[in-house]
Amino acid sequence: MSETNTVNHPGVALVTGANKGIGYEIAAGLGALGWSVAVGARNEGRREAAVDKLRAAGADAFGVPLDVTDDASVTAAARLIEGKAGRLDALVNNAAITGGGPQEPTTVDVERVRAAVETNVIGVIRVTNALLPLLRRSPSPRIVNVSSSVGSLALQTTPGAETGPIAVAYAPSKTFLNAVTVQYAKELAGTNILINAVCPGYTATDLNGFRGVRTPRQGAAVAIRLATVPDDGPTGRFFDDGGEVPW
Ligand SMILES: NC(=O)c1ccc[n+]([C@@H]2O[C@H](COP(=O)([O-])OP(=O)(O)OC[C@H]3O[C@@H](n4cnc5c(N)ncnc54)[C@H](OP(=O)(O)O)[C@@H]3O)[C@@H](O)[C@H]2O)c1
Repeated sequence: MSETNTVNHPGVALVTGANKGIGYEIAAGLGALGWSVAVGARNEGRREAAVDKLRAAGADAFGVPLDVTDDASVTAAARLIEGKAGRLDALVNNAAITGGGPQEPTTVDVERVRAAVETNVIGVIRVTNALLPLLRRSPSPRIVNVSSSVGSLALQTTPGAETGPIAVAYAPSKTFLNAVTVQYAKELAGTNILINAVCPGYTATDLNGFRGVRTPRQGAAVAIRLATVPDDGPTGRFFDDGGEVPW
């Protein structure tokens, strides 16, 4: 994909987990492109601080209280966006947790696995389905699931490939998310909704104690690109900054 492959008309985007890290930079990048950005975040103080910062940078941003693990919160978020914008053009499912550590499979506290799946997978399905009616009102709806290359079974089983630490909650939750992305793409084939997974790369954020080597802005770029692909863009695929990632 080239950098010039962007939709002509910026619309309304919801970014989940947009109060910090990569999600904040996805919101900032879309805002800079002229999109109206709904900042989905569960903590009121951090949400409003992010909205203020985005607005100060010139973005058209508004806050949306959102806990992706909570049905009522997600339903209310969809209603709020419907009231403010009437439709949704891009949904970026960015919110995620690691589940905490340690995560060696033979000794893991299974609650860590449950928590990672609840947020990183079921949360994405819950949010996507609640927002689909609004996405269907868009002329060019896009869904981007922020995944990770650690969820790639192809890479996890390639000798010598860089696949991060052993993490039976976080990594398989991203494998599950990848599989979910493919199922959505299959059901939505033939509609104008394009859905893809992306990997931001190893990025310095709270998620990894700021050990990542990329900046959040660099990590955000691939999600922004897939949120703005034209109507003949890809669907049901997995990308990072270098191109396509094997599932
Ligand atoms: N950083 C990396 O190296 C890396 C690499 C590959 C993929 N990723 C992916 O990139 C995405 C962003 O991660 P990040 O590195 O920017 O991490 P981060 O700084 O920890 O941000 C995660 C965001 O998700 C939000 N969140 C968590 N649970 C939520 C819930 N139940 N409801 C709503 N929001 C929730 C957090 O909100 P609170 O502030 O309220 O906790 C926060 O805004 C994630 O999908 C992650 O898996 C990151």
